[in-house]
Amino acid sequence: MTETLFTPLKAGAIELKNRIVMAPLTRNRAKNDTPGPLQAEYYAQRAGAGLIVTEGTPISPTAKGYADTPGIWSDDQVRHWQDVTKAVHDKGGRIVTQIWHVGRVSHESLLGGQAPVAPSAIIAQSRTFVGGEFKPTSEPRALEESEIAGILEDYRVAARNAIRAGFDGVEIHAANGYLIDQFLRDTTNRRTDGYGGTIANRVRFLREVVEAVAGEIGADRTGIRISPWSKANDVGLDSDTPALFAAVIDVLNEAGLAFVHVVEGQTGGPRDWPEGGIEALRARFKGVWIANNGYDRDSAIRAVDSGAADAVAFGKLYISNPDLAERLAADLPLNPLPVQGLYGGGAEFYTDYPARAA
Ligand SMILES: Cc1cc2nc3c(=O)[nH]c(=O)nc-3n(C[C@H](O)[C@H](O)[C@H](O)COP(=O)(O)O)c2cc1C
Repeated sequence: MTETLFTPLKAGAIELKNRIVMAPLTRNRAKNDTPGPLQAEYYAQRAGAGLIVTEGTPISPTAKGYADTPGIWSDDQVRHWQDVTKAVHDKGGRIVTQIWHVGRVSHESLLGGQAPVAPSAIIAQSRTFVGGEFKPTSEPRALEESEIAGILEDYRVAARNAIRAGFDGVEIHAANGYLIDQFLRDTTNRRTDGYGGTIANRVRFLREVVEAVAGEIGADRTGIRISPWSKANDVGLDSDTPALFAAVIDVLNEAGLAFVHVVEGQTGGPRDWPEGGIEALRARFKGVWIANNGYDRDSAIRAVDSGAADAVAFGKLYISNPDLAERLAADLPLNPLPVQGLYGGGAEFYTDYPARAA
């Protein structure tokens, strides 16, 4: 019997050859905010996945929160991403880019001395990789309402650039305490204008980003990542997470997005959410549901066979196993989880993890 995990899946207009997804993984190896041949090799090595989600890709110079993350705002970046998408497509893979604005999770040294922007001027007790070392995040300033249209335009241009670069679509990064998540939650959003206060107002920024991106490239090529119960980057839990994220799911249903990608529990940590919480959101969503966080072969097979998820994304295991999908399908042993060289550096701990001999 073939487990469903190893069978094809259609997510909007994107055809996955299996339901194993490479999760987005920031690796801080893109000099000058631009991907190069090393990134093309790294992603091509992982083309056995049904879908690759790239590392977080800043939509503008001010959207950036870490050193050496590859952006998607300039023509030069688009040209270089074209080499990456071609390398993946030549090996039969599918790849979307995770479009990203970090909001307050940044350091002024990455922003030409400017303060990071956020819904409200509340500092994150978090750290960011500025190149060679981690530093505490800088104090942000609250966005003026009049600035929001410009950020939506940055999302729209990034989505258009993603298609020009040959991506099969985009994943909007609304997870892990970055800008969209900061707007959603009442812990980080204290605004008194039309983007703060009620759940409807706090969901508005997400809705406008979704409309901008899907309006530009089509909802069938637009996915989104959320992490309802994660406290990543010091984003506190909302006072009513089930109601907030039910409203988020309603927006995604209305837009008809290709997929939603959900980090279950604490990103990279415990799978802890109130009983039935994730399950209720899953039941509410009408499209393709990609689950992530701490999965292994058995739990991924179970999740997809039971219908709890349509596909499963693997993060750390994809760092150390370039041929993870092939190994899972053949039930071969895996390389151990990576411990070194996650952030920064070059080919070491990046493109030198061995695949199993064919
Ligand atoms: C080195 C590293 C970089 C990450 N970068 C991103 C990122 O750019 N965007 C994102 O949404 N999540 C990011 N994550 C979170 C992973 O996508 C994933 O949610 C997490 O590792 C849990 O999945 P796993 O147990 O399969 O590793 C990162 C995780 C790691 C370990």
